Amino acid sequence: MYQTLLTDLQDGTLVVTINRPDKLNALNKDVIEELGKVVDEIYNNPEIKSAILTGAGEKAFVAGADISEFISLDAAGGAALAKKGQDNVFDKIENSPKPIVAAVNGFALGGGCELAMSCHFRLASENAKFGQPEVNLGLIPGYGGTQRLTQLIGKGKSMELMMTADMIGADEAKALGLVNHVAPLAELLGKTKEILQKIHTKAPVAVAKVIACVNDAAKGEKDGFANEIKRFGECFTTEDMKEGTGAFLEKRKAIFKGK
Ligand code: COA
Repeated sequence: MYQTLLTDLQDGTLVVTINRPDKLNALNKDVIEELGKVVDEIYNNPEIKSAILTGAGEKAFVAGADISEFISLDAAGGAALAKKGQDNVFDKIENSPKPIVAAVNGFALGGGCELAMSCHFRLASENAKFGQPEVNLGLIPGYGGTQRLTQLIGKGKSMELMMTADMIGADEAKALGLVNHVAPLAELLGKTKEILQKIHTKAPVAVAKVIACVNDAAKGEKDGFANEIKRFGECFTTEDMKEGTGAFLEKRKAIFKGK
């Protein structure tokens, strides 16, 4: 169904593997196009409760946007490439009502680091390496990296990483708050799935509202507190809220329907 992605739906989690290992899974036009389509599938297929993004092979998550496609671009072409990617992939991942988590299994550089950062949170294998090396190419990040890296690790570290083009390892990424957990490569997907299975037992509409509210905070949305009040109120109209509170009072386990 996809040429550049492998997909595998198990227990409600769609594992999306970017599959160009000979090019370290670099994001060319085809990958960006297909990532847009798979995110639509995640939004629209009720059997999919969550998703994991990862890379094929043991070396790279994604080693960046495909540099070979940059040569022919002018100012308008460069801006259009960035805008299309941000609109159709990166922002859509960030705003997904279902959790999308990155399992970073190697190099996450440039667009790869940006792709991981657009996910709701990240796990990394011990061999993972993160960086925004665009200044090496006379470029800056264009898929949201200047904004999301700063949101995640703060201004000083973000400035240093983007100006030096340095790569950091998994442990430093964890210390900075860029990733939540570090696991041996062989355990990375299992650990990521385990966290998502726990989330699947929670009320899906409430989980979607957590995503929207936390995104507001990360983006410095001026109406973040007001939006939280509104969304808190909306929860009272859901069957899941009645089930969750009822189950607590009846001392039984809640079973949520996502309604
Ligand atoms: N775009 C296009 N092709 C890429 C790529 C990218 N971002 N990253 C890696 N590749 C290709 C290489 O050109 C090479 O292809 P080839 O075998 O046809 O020559 C293949 O993937 C393997 O990469 P290679 O550089 O040989 O592996 P390495 O182990 O020596 O180095 C990296 C690994 C990640 C350090 C190195 O590939 C690299 O610096 N990549 C670019 C990272 C970058 O600047 N990303 C930001 C882009 S905006």
